[in-house]
Amino acid sequence: MEHDMSDYSEVLVTEEQIATRLDEMAAQIRADYEGKDLLLVGVLKGAVMVMADLARRMPTNVQMDWMAVSSYGSGTVSSGVVRILKDLDTDLTDRHVLIVEDIIDSGVTLSWLLGNLRTRGAASVEIATLLRKPDALRVEVPVRYVGFDMPTKFLVGYGLDFAEDYRTLPFIAALKPEVYGDR
Ligand code: IMP
Ligand code: MG
Repeated sequence: MEHDMSDYSEVLVTEEQIATRLDEMAAQIRADYEGKDLLLVGVLKGAVMVMADLARRMPTNVQMDWMAVSSYGSGTVSSGVVRILKDLDTDLTDRHVLIVEDIIDSGVTLSWLLGNLRTRGAASVEIATLLRKPDALRVEVPVRYVGFDMPTKFLVGYGLDFAEDYRTLPFIAALKPEVYGDR
């Protein structure tokens, strides 16, 4: 598949680097949850790629469920106010839960989600994220598994979008500032 390179300046994480890192993260997760049932909770839509690739590295007693949440506001800045657009189908009582995220930027969304899921009687709730922007952390979030620490740039690809485009790129790239302007 040919991709038009004109909107993004540089590929920051290649397909191969993502696959290698997911191998390592999956090995760690399998070891940590050995002998336990695990529920992976993906956050739509950004986490679909990382969820699909991580889940395929898991044993068959690992299940998947999905949530959709929205920070109020649009464009490239999180507002801090979160609402549930689609809730889980699964009862979390006594479950080991691992939230699977594409990226932690400010941490606002995940911090809220963690608090929300922890009220549901789970045995444990942890977080795995492929990407993290450490400079942008406004909220302290305890993240158990991190793929890559990234620079503070607007990233697209591998599930990450800008206005719903670019999710289908198989790698992570930085979007050129002139594409998103001051949104
Ligand atoms: P946070 O609440 O600021 O941590 O970010 C919440 C959500 O914003 C993430 O789960 C992404 O869906 C989205 N997001 C944050 N940074 C980026 C980015 O660089 N590119 C695309 N989406 C992003
Ligand atoms: Mg997300």
